[in-house]
Amino acid sequence: MALTLDKDWWRQAVIYQIYPRSFKDSNGDGIGDIKGVTSKISYLQSLHIDAIWLSPFYPSALADGGYDVDDYRDVDPKLGTLAEFDEMLEKLHEVGIHVFVDIVPNHSSNRHRWFQEAINSEPGSAARNRYIFRDGKGADGELPPTNWISHFAPSAWSHESTQGGKHGQWYCHLFAPEQPDFNWDNEEVGEDFLTTLKFWADRGVDGFRIDVAHMLKKDLSNPLKDVPEPVTLDSNIAGNEILFDRDEVHEVYKKWRELFNRYNPPRVAVAEAWGKPESIHRYASPEELGQAFNFDLLLADFQADNYREIVSRNFAAATQYGSSSTWVFSNHDQVRPATRYALPLGSDLIAFKNSNGASSSYDLIRGTNAAIAAQMFALALPGCTYIYQGEELGLPEVLDIAEDQIQDPQYLRNHKIDKGRDGCRVPLPWTTSGTSFGFGSGGAHLPQPDNFGQYSVEAESGVTGSPLEIFRRAIALRKELMCAEELTWHETNNPELLHLSRPNGWHCVTNFGRTNVALPKNLTFIHSSQPLAGGELPGASTVWLQA
Ligand code: NOJ
Ligand code: CA
Repeated sequence: MALTLDKDWWRQAVIYQIYPRSFKDSNGDGIGDIKGVTSKISYLQSLHIDAIWLSPFYPSALADGGYDVDDYRDVDPKLGTLAEFDEMLEKLHEVGIHVFVDIVPNHSSNRHRWFQEAINSEPGSAARNRYIFRDGKGADGELPPTNWISHFAPSAWSHESTQGGKHGQWYCHLFAPEQPDFNWDNEEVGEDFLTTLKFWADRGVDGFRIDVAHMLKKDLSNPLKDVPEPVTLDSNIAGNEILFDRDEVHEVYKKWRELFNRYNPPRVAVAEAWGKPESIHRYASPEELGQAFNFDLLLADFQADNYREIVSRNFAAATQYGSSSTWVFSNHDQVRPATRYALPLGSDLIAFKNSNGASSSYDLIRGTNAAIAAQMFALALPGCTYIYQGEELGLPEVLDIAEDQIQDPQYLRNHKIDKGRDGCRVPLPWTTSGTSFGFGSGGAHLPQPDNFGQYSVEAESGVTGSPLEIFRRAIALRKELMCAEELTWHETNNPELLHLSRPNGWHCVTNFGRTNVALPKNLTFIHSSQPLAGGELPGASTVWLQA
């Protein structure tokens, strides 16, 4: 299947996220790689997806799983070469699969050539001005310049001496100390990212996922301002406009759009922007990136009224801005949905993770059913759906990773408050048994549980009713059923039931409750996330019907 030239191909696409280090290892070193992705193209094809998004594969010391980039225009030698990337891209394109790469513009790694130059240069130099260096407070500059905090460490400032600098200044990092923030008021930074985008777009990359797209522009007027107390990194808190979601950031994306539109079809992009609900859609407008992740379903409990409200609100906003809606339940930062939905409504996820999954009311069967029902609900909506590797297998979160095996800086640096994100980054099981369950011929860089084989591609392939086969059929059917970006709600007189339809008579009914319910009359069955029970829809399941 040739790659479509339709400029709107992405508006109602299914995009599959690959976390390369944990997808497939081709050379037995325990780390997934580019050749591993290439070797699994027929699997990706069997999912009927339209595109993959690759999390960072650039050279990196992995202080933050690759989101600490040493060089934006190369492949990490541990993962492959640019030639292997080109081969992968060409082969994916041959079977009609588009490719998104991840752009990390807020910060580089501390090993980036520019940061090394900055550390070895004088205060006030052009090299330092690519990052955010400031003198400290206190009699001897011994205190950080502001109260800004980091996601992964107490302060967003580290003293330059920690990086070998000799001039007594501090540098800003809203994530790990190994991730210094760029100074986006410096035009050279913007120019360099345009070069990077062009570098990948010229190779044939179709789209870009933009890491923390709302954070690039900060109020850097001197003296720098403190953020309001209590200090928090929640971009929704009034006063935090110093650091997040500032109007100027949209000028950056308007420039990027000019570049994207020089290609045929135009390149597309999706913003990871954790802004105020009313502001994230700006990033998604056709003058800017085209899409922004909508994390509302990901953060919501599995409840009918929640879902309906979220869908209506986001669909309306996307329509207003001329973008397409996005639906997301999972990614490499979030507890896997089968596990989330296995917990009682309103559970404290961090406490659950920190207890290594100790909870008497953890019901993984219900969780898995709900996760698949939720995705089938989203797959019936207008817009674009993102699926994270392993979601199609119904993989649960790995909850018992030992402390000495944890890699995530969110845990290691942040006072060990949150066990972190490794539990959703454990290498995929491909086979029911064998070394690292078919991930590679060596081990896996994060430990796989003994029962992982039961969730493997081998265990689920060809098995009626397995999560994998339900997903495969759902995504294939969705392609056939695709129609205009419109939806109609139908009243159900049951607070646990949602019923919607699309203009071509494609109906979707989801039962959020625990008891079976009758199906609407005069509609023909197409597909369901669980077998019907005596003609009725079981709890935590979705059915598609045709008028
Ligand atoms: C969001 C990414 O998804 C996450 O994995 C990373 O830690 C931060 N941005 C910083 O780049
Ligand atoms: Ca490898």
